[in-house]
Amino acid sequence: MFDDLMRQLSAALAENWLTELFSLSYYSFPVMEVIHVVTYGTFFGGMMMLDFRLLGIGRFIISSQQTMRFILRIAWFAFALAVTSGILFFFVTPWEYPVNWIFQLKMLLIVLAGLNALFMHKFLLADIDHWDMNVAPPMKVRISAALSLCLWVSVVACGRLIAYSGSYGLNYPLFAL
Ligand code: HEM
Repeated sequence: MFDDLMRQLSAALAENWLTELFSLSYYSFPVMEVIHVVTYGTFFGGMMMLDFRLLGIGRFIISSQQTMRFILRIAWFAFALAVTSGILFFFVTPWEYPVNWIFQLKMLLIVLAGLNALFMHKFLLADIDHWDMNVAPPMKVRISAALSLCLWVSVVACGRLIAYSGSYGLNYPLFAL
């Protein structure tokens, strides 16, 4: 059922004018790849730095709130561009991603990381003034930051692994995922 739906999505994408436009140039994929790598790299680096700070690293050097304010402004922008370039990949090789389970896992992990971030901002940061600097953040904040780190690292691992999965064009025999 789900697989059928994904195949239909691939077929619909393949008929799209944007797919036709991208198919005109050999450079469509590499250009998209560069944009995706630069933007997700900026976003991922920001998340790593923020999560390290929320784990308590650097608490004698910089405040949590300053770190958050500075990084989130850039990270939101980078994330928006990463999502846009990620979606545009679909139009370059429409038959590849919707049916790829590593890609599906990556999307699920992004949703989970987003929910974790939302939970942290809604429920765990109310008393941030008490541990803004020189004090280790509360355990619940550190657990959420550690979870965030694991989820974003897994997103990056899945992103990279898509190219080695069994359903991908290269078809590595030892990685029949
Ligand atoms: C909704 C958002 C996103 C979509 C739809 C998306 C989609 C994609 C697609 C289709 C690829 C190409 C895979 C390939 O053919 O090799 C890719 C690559 C990748 N993505 Fe994303 N992506 C998104 C967000 C992110 C984010 C937020 C991160 C990291 C935090 C990320 C990390 C990666 C990595 C590491 C690669 C491999 C790049 C390489 O080849 O070196 N993506 N993504």
